Amino acid sequence: MEDRVVSSEASTHDFSFEHSLRPQSLTQYIGQDKVKSNLEIFIQAARMREETLDHVLLYGPPGLGKTTLAAVIANEMGVNLRTTSGPAIERPGDLAAILTSLEPGEVLFIDEIHRLHRTIEEILYPAMEDFCLDIVIGKGASARSVRLDLPPFTLIGATTRAGAISAPLRDRFGVLSRLEYYTEEQLTHIVFRTAAILETEIENNGAIEIARRSRGTPRIANRLLRRVRDFAQVRSDGFVTHTIADEALGLLQVDRLGLDHIDHKLIKSIIEKFSGGPVGIDTIAASIGEESETIEDVYEPYLLQIGFLQRTPRGRMVTDMGYRHFNLKKSSEM
Ligand code: ADE
Repeated sequence: MEDRVVSSEASTHDFSFEHSLRPQSLTQYIGQDKVKSNLEIFIQAARMREETLDHVLLYGPPGLGKTTLAAVIANEMGVNLRTTSGPAIERPGDLAAILTSLEPGEVLFIDEIHRLHRTIEEILYPAMEDFCLDIVIGKGASARSVRLDLPPFTLIGATTRAGAISAPLRDRFGVLSRLEYYTEEQLTHIVFRTAAILETEIENNGAIEIARRSRGTPRIANRLLRRVRDFAQVRSDGFVTHTIADEALGLLQVDRLGLDHIDHKLIKSIIEKFSGGPVGIDTIAASIGEESETIEDVYEPYLLQIGFLQRTPRGRMVTDMGYRHFNLKKSSEM
């Protein structure tokens, strides 16, 4: 059980490295301005009333900073963050153990909360609403239910699929915040911030190039920065120029818009094997050897956002813009 719930203090080497890159306060957190300004008020109000913050549901595509924001919220509330995830909680007893070990006021972060089993989810309802646990003792006719008080706490749930959360669970969150893709300017700012932490010198246009090719996603921007920095170190003097960034990203198969070889495979497969669609997600997944869920959660949202892909009731279709980016013609135009 202990290794499932990782306190922010119990850190492995990797975690502390990642941790050091992460902003600690709302002021340091770049982007998501609407979400931040709302949270700022709710946090301040809770602190003034000396109450716990209401439960928060963060949703949106992966890599946009849901975990980071949960840590920032706990930090701003001046309390500990306890972290776990939907798939890690296998039995009702696992969740009961976590809840009963919370200290008053702590933030419990459940990542991928949409993957909690329904029977486990039901334990959360009274815990969120009344800070108590209903435990059934005994079996059959002699079974009875006992209520156990819990310390007041804040639950922060994160999910890439708000639609997969059951209505009773969703309704118990007082704050629902959707994280959006970052602008190029915000990502440039994040790249500069990370470069400074990594003590890497970077040219303005180098940072802009990395930002432009990061699919609106800080996690990708930080990963690409590290790879470009390796390249600059080995092939040059360590200074990340625009030329170095461009060359390195080309070698990493990240195109001008930040699309990688899987995005390419996905779009090209719809065009070449299914005449541009519409085609069902499972058929696409089988044709490129990826899981449907990965395509839906990781690849598709950005392709929809930049208008390369369209969702229709009969399946996915590549748009005219998608065809143009890949220099391909529709069969009707050939
Ligand atoms: N690193 C990753 N995401 C960030 C963000 N939103 N603000 C600042 N630094 C970050």
